[in-house]
Amino acid sequence: MAPFSRLLLAALVLVAAATGEADAGGSGTILYGPARYDRVFSFGDSLTDTGNSAILPATAGGPFTKAPYAQTHFKGPSGRASDGRLVIDFIVESLRLPQPTPYLAGSTVSEFQHGVNFAVGGATALDMAFLKSKGIKSFVPIAISNQTTWFNRVLQLLASPPNQQRKIMARSLFYFGEIGFNDYSFALMTLTNDTMGLAKSLVPHIVGVIRSALIDAIAAGARTMVVTGMIPIGCEPEMLALLPSSKANYYDQASRCITPFNQLAQLHNRELNRMLSQLRRAHPRTSIQYGDLYNPVVAIVSSPRKYGFGGKPLAACCGGGGGPYNFNFTFFCGMPLSTTCADPSRSVSWDGIHFTEAANKFVARSMLIRGLEASEPIQISK
Ligand SMILES: *[C@@H]1O[C@H](CO)[C@@H](O)[C@H](O)[C@H]1NC(C)=O
Ligand SMILES: *[C@@H]1O[C@H](CO)[C@@H](O)[C@H](O)[C@H]1NC(C)=O
Ligand SMILES: *[C@@H]1O[C@H](CO)[C@@H](O)[C@H](O)[C@H]1NC(C)=O
Repeated sequence: MAPFSRLLLAALVLVAAATGEADAGGSGTILYGPARYDRVFSFGDSLTDTGNSAILPATAGGPFTKAPYAQTHFKGPSGRASDGRLVIDFIVESLRLPQPTPYLAGSTVSEFQHGVNFAVGGATALDMAFLKSKGIKSFVPIAISNQTTWFNRVLQLLASPPNQQRKIMARSLFYFGEIGFNDYSFALMTLTNDTMGLAKSLVPHIVGVIRSALIDAIAAGARTMVVTGMIPIGCEPEMLALLPSSKANYYDQASRCITPFNQLAQLHNRELNRMLSQLRRAHPRTSIQYGDLYNPVVAIVSSPRKYGFGGKPLAACCGGGGGPYNFNFTFFCGMPLSTTCADPSRSVSWDGIHFTEAANKFVARSMLIRGLEASEPIQISK
């Protein structure tokens, strides 16, 4: 067993022991552990998509279906927007559950009964029509509402009597991966004067649609859910390359990320957590965990060597254009003119928008370890 899996397993066992009967409520412990769940249902965008955008007509044949995507772990491009595994892959592995079937890759009970992944690369939190009413153009016609609709179809297919459905819900882990990054980044790329004001105005709407999806799942009988927050938007090579500025205090001193964009992500995460606290109070028998994608990424970007990464944490591994970010759409990863760095495991960003397997592993691990609520800091190395 690789040291990583051993560490995870230790964490899982410890968590299982520590939680015992304390099944309910709690922002604290993540209720991971072999045999607790039969399956995972997951939702989100390209950070969680394990094959849907490769099939969806609007995005089929996109870069994620081409080499060198997935080169690190999978035999060929798997539709994952990384060189290898995603955070959801590590979580599913740690639970010793089968990989959920991408929703668009299946249609039968046998394909769906071991879990389904509804995440779609390019998906937005908000519906296309709503974004358009705000002057924001989105590119992939899938929002959270579509993923919820798909989920309801799957649940109907797996079982029709309500008590059978509730049994399935209770024995499933719901992983709500990051969603909203696309909404914010499209807002920040509009040609209006106040893109930040526009992006910020989306926060309550985005948190609102996430809340609706969670409430629907709880009403249908979900007992355990992990809800991940926003990544540090200002540390994305794409943002750094396309939206530079000479404004004072635009770049953070320690991380060199774009401060206002990271503040937007933090605002999202604060509002998301406020909403999750309310849900926990209203539904004390449901375990609702927050999955932090923000702090682990800022940590490695600020001190890459400390965590085993290389010295250019804000540069895309795969892509082109050079400079500190190595990002230019003309050379986007998977396109004929792109090149790939020698050792992706030392990069944080795979293609300027999505993380490397190494970064995903770090984030998944810190998510699981945080579930321990350790009283002393745990040494995290790569
Ligand atoms: C997504 O949802 C919107 C709004 O309900 C709907 O118009 C659209 O047809 C859905 N798309 C898919 C692919 O299901
Ligand atoms: C946007 O900026 C332009 C040029 O600076 C200015 O003329 C215009 O009034 C601004 N519009 C708004 C809505 O602030
Ligand atoms: C991207 O690369 C093209 C081709 O070399 C170049 O013309 C363009 O200016 C670059 N864009 C940016 C934002 O650097």
